[in-house]
Amino acid sequence: MDSIELNKTKRFKGEFSPLPDKSISHRAVIFSSLSKGKSVIRNFLRSEDTMSTLNAFRKLGVEIEEVKGGERGFSGDLIINGNGFYGLKEPLNVIDCGNSGTTIRLLSGVLSGNPFFSVLTGDESLRKRPMARVINPLTQMGAEIIARDENRYPPIAIKGRKLHAIKYTMPVASAQVKSALLLAGLYADGETEITEPVKSRDHTERMLPAFGAEITVDGLRITIKGGPELEAIDIHVPGDFSSAAFFLAAALLINNSDITIKGVGMNPTRTGLISALKEMGADIEITNRRSVYVEPIADIHCRGSAELKAITIGKEQIPALIDEFPILCVAATQATGITTIRGAEELRVKESDRIKTMANELRKMGAEIEEFEDGLSINGKAALKGAPVESYGDHRIAMAMAIAALIADGTTTIHGISSVNISFPGFFEILRKLTS
Ligand code: S3P
Repeated sequence: MDSIELNKTKRFKGEFSPLPDKSISHRAVIFSSLSKGKSVIRNFLRSEDTMSTLNAFRKLGVEIEEVKGGERGFSGDLIINGNGFYGLKEPLNVIDCGNSGTTIRLLSGVLSGNPFFSVLTGDESLRKRPMARVINPLTQMGAEIIARDENRYPPIAIKGRKLHAIKYTMPVASAQVKSALLLAGLYADGETEITEPVKSRDHTERMLPAFGAEITVDGLRITIKGGPELEAIDIHVPGDFSSAAFFLAAALLINNSDITIKGVGMNPTRTGLISALKEMGADIEITNRRSVYVEPIADIHCRGSAELKAITIGKEQIPALIDEFPILCVAATQATGITTIRGAEELRVKESDRIKTMANELRKMGAEIEEFEDGLSINGKAALKGAPVESYGDHRIAMAMAIAALIADGTTTIHGISSVNISFPGFFEILRKLTS
């Protein structure tokens, strides 16, 4: 059965390490596959999304050895034998990117520079996600790309070739688009220059130079030089802040809770939720700050907060909490006053239309929500009631609703919970441990 029944909890205590970071795991596989030599990736996330990337590179001829060993097989080490960025082979069949926007968009950048034919597709959700945002600039760089519905949606067919550098101002803040263009920039003559409207996660800019890429970052402007071969390195993937976020928020909302989350990635382009929750009045303590490789990490200690107050979130803050929107909505139901989140239209084109799905599902539990084209407002504090709710096949909706269930009176049934395997297999086991 693809559903779970959850009840209000009186207990939420314990310590755990989140699974490895999804964004960094994808990038580690991609960059290693394009490098010359043997890279070792420690603590790779084995979730459906990251396995889509791994399987894609196998289909492109890269030899990848999986060394299992992490917690319940949900993480492990990889040994990747790369043949350089012209070492990929034309795939014999269509590449299925599953549910993963990061896989299809970053691969589009890579394949645009490779002189062969390839077709990328994905599941029902991915086939509804906008691709013109990568197709347009990659076409400007010289790639030949066609896609379904006037070149807007997957499947997308790519005939790559030698690219030329462009100067490109991105209309939307998107780390996936930025990373696709940086990867294409490796295959281009000259220097590709990309300007973002608001800074999005910068894992690519941090990690690619370690492989030998020449990247300069000047505020919102990023430049990459085409050409230099990448060299294999060893990488350690930190814990995923976006997975930790569900437990961090849960701890704030549940009375007498006490949670420590260890080894969490603290890249400032990802931790906007911490600032938002602190502004709401949350008691969050960050200790043991250190770094693994090119990324900062820390331990997070969090207890139930007596009173949370409503906040206002605008466009500039969205990229640093883009994946935390669903859980921030749940937290907002428990903050006194009207929390408003605007400038968030990107949320409509995620794994589900997250503005609509969160508004619909939280309303079923008794929340008072007004929806706007670019966001919503939530009138708290609401006494949530258990109800049957849907994930819409979206992992982060399933997990956010699970946390809502823990603070609601009565029983909540969440349908479509297998979607958590996209980013966080084992999510419900950790939840059970902390609540019992
Ligand atoms: C990601 C970037 C974000 C984020 C997604 C992962 C990445 O998407 O929502 O979960 O790994 O680069 P956008 O770049 O489309 O905002």
